[in-house]
Amino acid sequence: MNTAPAPKAPTLPDAQTVTQVTHWTDWLFSFRVTRPKSLRFRSGEFVMIGLMGDNGRPLLRAYSIASPSWDDELEFYSIKVQDGPLTSRLQHIKAGDEIILRPKPVGTLVHDALLPGKRLYLFATGTGIAPFASLIRDPETYEKFDEVILAHTCRTVAELEYGRVLVESLPDDPLIGEFIDGKLRYYPTTTREDSPKMGRVTDKLRSGELFDDLGVPPISVDVDRAMVCGSMGLNKDIKEILEGFGLREGANSDPAHYVVEKAFVG
Ligand code: A2P
Repeated sequence: MNTAPAPKAPTLPDAQTVTQVTHWTDWLFSFRVTRPKSLRFRSGEFVMIGLMGDNGRPLLRAYSIASPSWDDELEFYSIKVQDGPLTSRLQHIKAGDEIILRPKPVGTLVHDALLPGKRLYLFATGTGIAPFASLIRDPETYEKFDEVILAHTCRTVAELEYGRVLVESLPDDPLIGEFIDGKLRYYPTTTREDSPKMGRVTDKLRSGELFDDLGVPPISVDVDRAMVCGSMGLNKDIKEILEGFGLREGANSDPAHYVVEKAFVG
């Protein structure tokens, strides 16, 4: 009888273990993985994650980290593209599986890229909410701003669910609840299914409806700052709107009034 231990499956380079997977719709899911001990990141940044490809080479895509920087684990939020090279496979991961994570966080949706202000707007479409899921759980966001407005536009109500569940859970969260203290406001809209607020956030900004709904003055360079993460169309349109209000785009090396990142397809 052969008593030698079974050979261990080779561990992937930069492997992390999946701890939890939640399927929100047939085309959206979130998952949590172990966090490399050495990984430091700023809430809002992204990393490259993926799986080993059939050719033995890592297949990696940029994913915003959706968990805050104080969390022991890392969370990601992804679409499932049925013929997408990575997400067609990634959507099947289960707790205990391994993924590859390159521990080199980067990105512009960070507090360091914004000048001080009073009100922070977070504009997202679709999975572009991921970096903001991190930032709205970061105490620094509430230390730096008196009011935080998360505006999320999706096609359907089901696509809003990940953000809605998160936002509703935060006031009672033992770690972050006290920092939020009523400062976080949520402005969800849908464009292709009935919901209490329908239409693109860009149209709500242009018409002023968003300001009326929230009871805030129009955007002003003196007090308002913004972060934008969505489709190329959203990013371009919001840039134009924000610049129309006199805001200037910032970067890590040159902080200003707003910052933009495209939502990664994954
Ligand atoms: P719409 O249904 O009017 O295109 P997608 O699934 O295509 O990435 O879009 C996600 C959400 O972002 C949809 O609700 C979509 O609205 C909205 N959207 C797409 N482009 C823009 C844009 N340029 N400005 C504002 N919202 C947009």
